[in-house]
Parts: sequence; structure tokens; C-alpha cells
Amino acid sequence: MTGIMFVCLGNICRSPMAEIIFKDMVEKAGRSAEFLIASSATSSENVCNGIGAEVYPPAKKVLAKHGLSTGGKRAVQISAEDYDKYDYIVCMDKYNLRSLNRLFGGDKDGKIFMLMDFTERPGDVSDPWYSGDFETAYRDIHEGCKGLLKQITQKNKDIIRKDD
Ligand code: 4NP
Repeated sequence: MTGIMFVCLGNICRSPMAEIIFKDMVEKAGRSAEFLIASSATSSENVCNGIGAEVYPPAKKVLAKHGLSTGGKRAVQISAEDYDKYDYIVCMDKYNLRSLNRLFGGDKDGKIFMLMDFTERPGDVSDPWYSGDFETAYRDIHEGCKGLLKQITQKNKDIIRKDD
């Protein structure tokens, strides 16, 4: 089982989009059982008395346009214990990266990644909160998820080969 935690600032736009897109990708590949997939926020902004906000409506809309449902996803905040629970902690931008390193006191097992590092265009995912452009964010996130799945698949093949 490979655990993946997608992370952004608010867990109402980019990281839920990544969670939903990645879940759909592995489901279509018939590989859902291989993965534990979740998403969370570095900030507590969208969690009030333990109840998280729903996915931001324009993010829901762009997912729906691509045939995907948010399935009742609500915002949750990441916690220090999540570091050991997941194999890949995949964030959306350099601010998230800094917050995660602070929360976890570094990255002793080398688990923290930026989503676009799995593409030919490393850097930040286009932030729709500021740009209003959810389609570009969708495209970035989809490309990042594709690259992440490819990397995990390759790594698992290498492990199997080593065990032969
Ligand atoms: P997200 O988007 O981090 O992709 O969920 C944002 C959500 C809320 C805020 C910023 C970005 N905010 O400033 O409240």
C-alpha cells in the first residue's frame, strides 16, 4: 500500500482537486487497492470546530466539467503524525513546502515533494485562489498526478526486480 497525502494552504481548491484526480486515475487503471489517498491543509482557516469547509464551488465546477465528483470532501488540517502515516506528502507550492518542513521538523525520510516536480515543468501549481483560473490549475494538477503515478509505478517495478 502506498500512502499519498496531497497538501495545500486551505484544502478547498488545489489539494482536494489532486486527491480526486489521482483517485480517479488509479481507479481507471484498476489499481485503487494499492493506494491510500487523502488531502489536507497547512492552515486551520477552513476547519471550524472540527468541521471542514466543502470544496470551493469553482473547484467543484471544474472537476464536474471533467466528469469528477468531490464526493462530500471536507477540509482537514494536516498534523505532525501524518508524516509517518504516508509515503508521499505532495504539496502544491513553495509556501506549503516551508510550512510542512516546519511542522515536521524537516524531512528525515525524504517524503515531501512538490507536485510539479513530477513533470517537465517543476515549480508551483498555478494557484486558482489568486488567478481565478481553475482550468489551468486542473491542467497542472492532472499533469503532476500523471507524473507521480508514473514515478510510483516505476519505483515499484524496480523493487520487484530487486526482489527477483
Ligand atoms: P487552496 O486555496 O490552498 O488551494 O485550498 C486557498 C484557499 C483559501 C485561501 C487561499 C488559498 N485563503 O487565503 O483563505
